[in-house]
Amino acid sequence: MTQATRTLIRGGRLITAIDDYHADILIEGERIVCIGARLEAGPDTRVIDATGLLVLPGGVDAHTHMENTFGPSVTCDTFDTGTRSAAFGGTTTIIDFALQEAGTSPLDAIARTQAKAASVSHIDYAFHVIVTHVDDAVLGDMRYAIRHEGVSSFKMFMAYPGTVMSDDAAIFRAMRMVGQHGGMIALHAENGNVIDLLIREALAQGHTSPRYHALTRPALMEGEATHRGIKLAELAEAPVYFVHLSAKEALKHVIEARDLGIPVFAETCPHYLFFDDSAYADDSFDVARYVMSPPLRSKEAQSALWTALKTDDLQLISTDHCPYCLKEGHLGRVNQKPLGENDFSRIPNGVPGVETRMTVVYDGGVRTGRISLNRFVELTSTAPAKLFGLFPRKGTLAVGSDADIVLFNPDASHTISAETQHGACDFTLFEGRNVTGQVKTVLLRGECLIEDGKWVGRAGQGQFVARGELGAYW
Ligand code: URP
Ligand code: ZN
Ligand code: ZN
Repeated sequence: MTQATRTLIRGGRLITAIDDYHADILIEGERIVCIGARLEAGPDTRVIDATGLLVLPGGVDAHTHMENTFGPSVTCDTFDTGTRSAAFGGTTTIIDFALQEAGTSPLDAIARTQAKAASVSHIDYAFHVIVTHVDDAVLGDMRYAIRHEGVSSFKMFMAYPGTVMSDDAAIFRAMRMVGQHGGMIALHAENGNVIDLLIREALAQGHTSPRYHALTRPALMEGEATHRGIKLAELAEAPVYFVHLSAKEALKHVIEARDLGIPVFAETCPHYLFFDDSAYADDSFDVARYVMSPPLRSKEAQSALWTALKTDDLQLISTDHCPYCLKEGHLGRVNQKPLGENDFSRIPNGVPGVETRMTVVYDGGVRTGRISLNRFVELTSTAPAKLFGLFPRKGTLAVGSDADIVLFNPDASHTISAETQHGACDFTLFEGRNVTGQVKTVLLRGECLIEDGKWVGRAGQGQFVARGELGAYW
């Protein structure tokens, strides 16, 4: 079905990172063209009634892994299943990862990942490149990616020695280059060498169950790596972004640096906000569902993360959506969590989350008074768009912005279950949780993907969003 080229969203309560008011939104083609009171609908205008609903900018999730390969395992969501699931969760743009494979260029990584996403993604997407090797040619290609490929952020790992880990000198070189050319390094901050030793010692003592994943990845080693990453960035005169920050030992260093005016940014994820290390109490294999890196931390850490979200010591909530099934063979996916049945270090690290982010943060953050409605929009849409070069095209409701819009019912309740979700994963950490706040209708660049909770989108509607140099908003 072709959709009208003019759409009027009428009677809703518009929420941006700073505003909260009732108005209508007129969309022409892909863009918002007018926001105002009592706008007239022309004869060929489709009208969507938003009375009683919140009208939000589409969510921007700056950290997802669709069909990403780590060792023998591939995440179970493709760009097809994962972006459909994201849309049901109110997210209209993701930033996913393109992995630089051994001996290849970051530009190959971008081309390969483009090929996976291009004709199947249902929402808009951008990429960070995971840089695993640095030399002069790679640095030149990273520079080229910033200038000509619309890819201006790069993830580097301080963990997983022997596979994706980079040493300090490589990280420093990459930081120095991006600092001069409008890019940013995102760091996975855990001390990989020490963790590797602890893993080997645990296994040698016969500790093979999933709970040892957490016991061998101490919060102090996230703190240590975060501190080291900040010092490298300071020396390189570059901004730095910490992905999936979980420990208060790491947060402490981010706060300290930001208080000094150093351009240090960090995200946390819903799993760290709603779950804690009590999940690792027993030796059963079911604990594999909580195997992600870094692992869940203490209740005390969790409350420090909520405070930091409120005070802007943390700037974003991303999902680190990195789904692997609990059962081997679900929807044909193999090499999933059971790979580590007899050895926790072989359990693929990661959890799903792209469909639940907006709802659980609204329910557990806004409704509980931990964060304001404006801050909710900022953390889940505006700040990721600003930090990663998508704003003002994405991340706000403004004339000229893409009409990526979510109509959100703040009073509707439902119970979260993997059964009723739309991705390929066979579990959600939020199974059985009753939440209030529900995504009702979702528009991507003016076209409905979801209407009254039903899928009406076209396959492959999502487009790659090229980003420019970063830094305009910090
Ligand atoms: O456990 C996680 N986070 N897996 C995904 C890869 C990463 O480090 O982000
Ligand atoms: Zn990571
Ligand atoms: Zn990740």
